[in-house]
Parts: sequence; structure tokens; C-alpha cells
Amino acid sequence: MYDPCRKAIAVLFAFALSVSPLAEASAASPEPVEAEHGMVVTAQHLASDIGVEILKNGGNAVDAAVAVGYAMAVVYPEAGNIGGGGFMTIRLKDGKTTFLDFRERAPLASTKTMYLDDKGNPVKGLSTDGYLAVGVPGSVLGFETARTRYGTKSREELMAPAIKLARDGFVLDEGDAASLAENAETLVKDPAAAAIFLKSDGKPHAVGETLVQADLAASLSSISELGPDAFYKGPIADAIVKASQERKGILARQDFEQYKVRELEPVKCSYRGYDIFSSPPPSSGGVIICEILNILEGYPISYLGYGSADTVHVMIEAMRHAYVDRNTALGDPDFVENPIGKLLDKGYAQKIREEISAFKAGISQELMPKGFGESTETTHYSIIDNDGNAVAVTYTLNGSFGAGVVAPGTGILLNNEMDDFTAKPGVPNLYGLVQGEANAIAPGKTPLSSMSPTIVAKDGKPFMVIGSPGGARIITITLEAIINVIDHGMNIQEAIDAPRIHHQWLPDKIYMEPYALSPDTRRVLAGMGHDIDIDENWTIWGKAAGILVGGKSLADMGKADSSRYYGAIDSRAASGAARGY
Ligand code: DON
Repeated sequence: MYDPCRKAIAVLFAFALSVSPLAEASAASPEPVEAEHGMVVTAQHLASDIGVEILKNGGNAVDAAVAVGYAMAVVYPEAGNIGGGGFMTIRLKDGKTTFLDFRERAPLASTKTMYLDDKGNPVKGLSTDGYLAVGVPGSVLGFETARTRYGTKSREELMAPAIKLARDGFVLDEGDAASLAENAETLVKDPAAAAIFLKSDGKPHAVGETLVQADLAASLSSISELGPDAFYKGPIADAIVKASQERKGILARQDFEQYKVRELEPVKCSYRGYDIFSSPPPSSGGVIICEILNILEGYPISYLGYGSADTVHVMIEAMRHAYVDRNTALGDPDFVENPIGKLLDKGYAQKIREEISAFKAGISQELMPKGFGESTETTHYSIIDNDGNAVAVTYTLNGSFGAGVVAPGTGILLNNEMDDFTAKPGVPNLYGLVQGEANAIAPGKTPLSSMSPTIVAKDGKPFMVIGSPGGARIITITLEAIINVIDHGMNIQEAIDAPRIHHQWLPDKIYMEPYALSPDTRRVLAGMGHDIDIDENWTIWGKAAGILVGGKSLADMGKADSSRYYGAIDSRAASGAARGY
């Protein structure tokens, strides 16, 4: 039984034994990577190397982000892309922050019920596999917009390393080969994808073999030479549209011609004196991270302690409440009114805290708004340069290798981002998200995302660059890395590696990574009414990439022997690397 008396004693003990957030933490993790002039952290080491070279050659963080974006399209095909889309959060050295939305848009011929059968039920696979799942890609125009507005280098210089890697090939390491093997069953179904990513006998390439992508090299070369028009108004668009028309897709030339990047204000909030800048709608990420942080600010998380039942309980309740808002109230800002003011209001967080019992789990069904009916890959990279310009990019094909299709002759894998829309209110998508009308499909609309490229500043200076893949869990993965640094005093590597927990309103469950909670903690939480599932599918727990400025942890900030930058790639990312100089 979990009684109030025990609770009071537990809180007193926690205060008495509390570890100051500034004390050294002692989790088991490799040391973060240190550097003085710049740091690039990505899920593929060759891309990290390319980013650092661009910085060393005088490029700024945005230049490096563009070069890394193209390189990841070659060396990290499960998520790096030019056939998908994403977000870039930028904080310039003068403190200006901005956000580029180059996420996919729904084709003009799309309809609200396009994934339903004649009885009104979703048809399995329609929004995830093949050409009908494909949204209009945004990465190429996104990178060019970033480069021309905030970069300093020519497109040719930034694209050259990616073209070389595609043309000459790169040697597969264990993580690369495992990714191809895990997705071989999908890739074999599309002859153009199989011809690139599998051997002629249909088997995946092995560790040590070289993966050459000649068609992709040609596509990248024509973009390098002619600019985004080569993609949106030239032979690449024609090839994708032709393949789509031949295979039950609805992409049209006009979809490509009218694609636009949006430059938006990042979502901003404060947490215990730190300024958080993250993704606005069409992402839910920034708003929901901020809403959860606002709720948690009212609890002494640091004193309650990492992984304690008290901390986990309030985190889960904050997540439960915030994901209701995510799944019911948010959508593409050109199509729906997003109640951002309300959701970011500290008074709203206070009201939610008043609804959270200290002793009992909430019940998700009771939070159902009136009138509401009911594996995977993305990638994130974090960069900072010698001037202190910081860039956080999360971009994706949605599922691993997207829709699993390559338009013949292009070498370009296409996304299945349309699955992020509400196919039918109340029916869960790939990530189990149960969403509503605000995220219904409409021509030209962008599906609601969870991607959360985030930059944290303190006293007007960059403090942390952070983000992750992980579908609906991106929000809680990013949030937990921030809390682990700010409240629990972990260093950046420990903060990223620490086992995670997640709740997304529906299903009404705490998901925990193996070992995240001890058996007695779970018993306490179960006694409060929480339903806990250990989720051993490690691919869904993300691969965060982070940078901390001024010390490897809060305790080390400003120490004489502290370096300027500390980078950490998630230990869950087999091929990733933090590289600095
Ligand atoms: O935009 C989103 O929220 C999803 N398409 C992200 C997908 C993702 O993170 C898959 N990776 N694990």
C-alpha cells in the first residue's frame, strides 16, 4: 500500500539524503567528447567527420548542418534523406533564434478519408507502404533555404562530400549493416530499392562491404549544379511522379512545383532559469516539451531524485495531460488554430498540477475531450561552431527506409510521412498515437510531428543542443535529457544514455526501457494505480544527439580544466559519433 504517511517520510528522506543537482553524478557511461572550437554529433560517424571538416574550413554551424544533411542521405539511408523532410532550429551567435519547417506536405489530390475502406475503417499498410504513403518531400529546399539565409558556403562545396560518398561508396560498419539487414524484408519488395540496398541474391550487404549509390550520386550532382529546381521542377520530380502514377500513388508535378519552406518562430519557454527554444507547429514537440516542463517546474524533481517513484509519478502525470493536448488540439498552423498561448501558460500548468494527485495515478479515459472519437526511424544531429552558432536538426522518412520505395533512376528513398496524419479519429497510427480532427488529412497540409530539435540557452548564451528520433517518444526523450542535466546533475552522455520512461495518454500505460525502474519502484507505482510495460524494442527508444556548453555537467561548468564543448551520441546509436576540434 502506498499511503500518505509513507509518502511524507519518503519526501523528508529525499530532502535529507538529497544529492545537490550540482554534485557529480556517477552513472556508468563513456565520457563525453571534448572540444574547444566546434562539435558535431550525428548517428553516423562519416557524417560527423564531414560536419567537422566544414567547420574547420571556415563554415559555420548552418553550413555544417547542410553538409551533414546531405551526407546522412547517403550514409544513413534508414532516416537521412532527400526524399523526406524535417525541421531545423537555429540559434545564431547574436542570440537570434529561428526555425525552418521543411517537412512533407500532403499531395493536392489527398483526401481526409484516403486510407479508409468503404466501411470507413483504415486499410492496413495504405498510409505506411508504397507510393500512397508519400508526402511531398522538403529536405532539398530546406537545406538550400538554410544555406542561402544563414550559411556562408557554396552549395557545391557543401554537397561535394555527400556526392563522393554516394559515387565511390562507403564501407559498412556493424550498425550500417544491421540496419540494412533489419529492413531487408521491406526493401526486397521494391525492385529499385532492392537493386541499391541488397545484393543480387537478395541478401543484405555485410559488414566491411562497400555500398555504392550511383543513381543517388547523379541526383545529388544535378541538385548541386542546378539547385533545388533540379529536384522540384526537373527530371527528379518527373521520375518520382511517373513512378507514383504507375503504382497507385497520387503525387503530381504541381505538388513539387509549389512546395515551400516555412520559416517560423521557435516555441520558447523557461525552465528553472533556462530558456528553451524548440519546434512550433506543425510539430507538437516544442509545445509539449514546454507544457511538461511547466508542470514539472512546480515539483522538487532534483530532491525527489532520478528514477524515484515520486519523480516518475509526476513526470508520467505531466506527460499524460500534455499528450491529450498534443493528440487533440494541435495541427498544421496554416489549417488549424493552435492554442499555443494557453498551452504554454504557467497558470495552465498550475491548474494541471492541481488535478494531479500525489498518491494516485490519473485515468486517461477521464481526460478524453468531449466529441473525440480513438518500427521506425528518424535522425537527429546537433552542431555548434567556434562563434557559438548552434543548430539542431531532426529529419526523417518517418518509418525506417520510409515507404520502402525508390523512384527508378533517382536513387532517392521516399518517405511514408502521411501516416503521421489522423487516418481516422481514435485509431492509433504507427506510433500508437490516437489523434483527432486538428490533424486530419487535407491537400497541401503538413502532418503533425513530434520532432523536437531543441536549443537551451542560459543567461543569453547557448547551453545545450539536443534532440532525438523515436516517433511519439521524441518529446519525452528530449525532455528527459534536459531534466537529467538540469535537475539530476548528469553529464551530457549520462543524461542521454540513462534508461527512459514514456507515457502518451493513450494507451494508458507507462512504457519503460529495461532497467529504467527497479522492482520496488515499480511496486510503489503499481500501488498508485499505474500500469507499467517493459518495452524491449530498443529501436523505438531513440538515438539522442546532444551538446553541452561550458562543462560536461552542471557541476563542471566554468571549472578551470573544463573544455568549451561536450558532445554525446546516444549509446543506442551503433554507428554514431560526436566529433569536435
Ligand atoms: O515526425 C514525426 O513525429 C515522426 N514522423 C518521427 C518518426 C520517427 O522518429 C521514427 N524514428 N524512430
